[in-house]
Amino acid sequence: MAKKKSGFSHKLIEQNVGLLIILSIAVISFAGLVQIVPLFFQHSTTTPTPGVMPYEPLNLVGRDVYIREGCVGCHSQQIRMLSSEVQRYGPYSLAGESTYDYPFLWGSKRTGPDLARVGGRYSDDWHRVHLRNPRDVVPESNMPAYGWLARNSVENENVQTRMRVLRRLGVPYTDEQIEQAPEQLKGKTEEDALIAYLQDLGVAGRAAAAKAVAEGAL
Ligand code: HEC
Repeated sequence: MAKKKSGFSHKLIEQNVGLLIILSIAVISFAGLVQIVPLFFQHSTTTPTPGVMPYEPLNLVGRDVYIREGCVGCHSQQIRMLSSEVQRYGPYSLAGESTYDYPFLWGSKRTGPDLARVGGRYSDDWHRVHLRNPRDVVPESNMPAYGWLARNSVENENVQTRMRVLRRLGVPYTDEQIEQAPEQLKGKTEEDALIAYLQDLGVAGRAAAAKAVAEGAL
């Protein structure tokens, strides 16, 4: 077969490591920009899903407990668009539900179930028992017990500083909300805060999805 003549040769790139690295970086950077940059400007990722509000101070502290304890290492918060997931967990996650998440906690490991829509699924008391010793409600569970959370107070947490930082990042907390934040933490424990956070997870997203279905939009 006659070879086509051209100045470009794959062999040249493959035999020249420096050139291979530079061209690979160029290709990956370009592809990354094409994929990632539009997300910063798309309304579906930058506008909160209707009903999604900035975290209440107590929930915000609970979210930080969730991060500190590494719950994200076993639990995702991201329901994929697969019918098996939707049947098990509820309506699939929307990007707009994570608008106020800094950082997001989508996770990638599911030793335990996804928690994106766990809000309202159990009572506060169920969570209390479960966090203190998961085996008391789910005998086969291998989730660790988090007994100390009930003994740690959150009254002295620097929640106002955290809210101010989040405001700088774009979360619309008002001065009044920041002013009144410590009030919400009075007499509360880390366990209370974590449960408040869990009980609100995905509630607004579920309502938005139900509304969209009722209106025939989904
Ligand atoms: C070592 C992995 C692991 C870690 C870490 C872990 N979990 Fe779990 N979690 C599980 C497993 C497995 C289950 C399923 C059995 C059960 O309900 O206990 C579960 C279940 C749950 C459930 C019930 C979900 C449902 O829909 O039934 C909640 C809520 C939960 N975990 C919250 C947490 C929180 C909050 C933390 C961090 C403080 C945490 N988990 C840390 C493994 C883990």
